[in-house]
Amino acid sequence: MLICIPDILSKQEVADFRRIMDAESWEDGKSTAGAQSAEVKQNEQLNPDGETSRALGNRIITALSKNTLFISAAVPLHIFPPLFNRYVPGKFFGEHVDNCIRGDYLTGLRIRTDLSVTLFLSEPDEYEGGELVIEDYYGSQRVKLPAGHAVLYPSTSLHMVTPVTRGARVASFFWLQSMIKDAQARRMTFDMDLAIQELVVRLGRNDPQVRQLTNIYHNLIRHWAEL
Ligand code: NI
Repeated sequence: MLICIPDILSKQEVADFRRIMDAESWEDGKSTAGAQSAEVKQNEQLNPDGETSRALGNRIITALSKNTLFISAAVPLHIFPPLFNRYVPGKFFGEHVDNCIRGDYLTGLRIRTDLSVTLFLSEPDEYEGGELVIEDYYGSQRVKLPAGHAVLYPSTSLHMVTPVTRGARVASFFWLQSMIKDAQARRMTFDMDLAIQELVVRLGRNDPQVRQLTNIYHNLIRHWAEL
């Protein structure tokens, strides 16, 4: 399942990110690729261990931690330090597999990649091509979102970025380990939370049945969560 999370960063924050990133030097994106993906990866990225990546990455993680839609959809346990990439004309990332386990030697963090996230930092009209194409059970999904918006998709999906033919596609991408390993269980808690939020608007948080459903929601998380 693909989930779009709007407005993680404001337009002003995106402009600030871009100003900081433009002043950096970019390196070959192969440094963080696995054996399969390195063969089809043609892009540039900021030094993943550099101060800029870490500082901007922390700003993204802070923004995500306040985003209730993201928290509900991902139920995150650990978020990998965000990486930043750029595709200029001729650059692309062919269909590939994301590594199942990722380790960060600076923090010692090691995660199982349950969900992949792409946070767009270019507006769709700034570039041509550069679509994120994700294979899922309903066929290929093509994603190109406004700057500041993100897409969340299962790390189990094959995916690619089509060649950029004009402009520059700048994005942040990262992975997370969810407290709920099972994608179907995670989907059900997300759907249930959305339905409860609708009922809260109509009936209030302390309607007896809303309270009961909220209790069941928490019990399902309690049942499935692994910390
Ligand atoms: Ni990937």
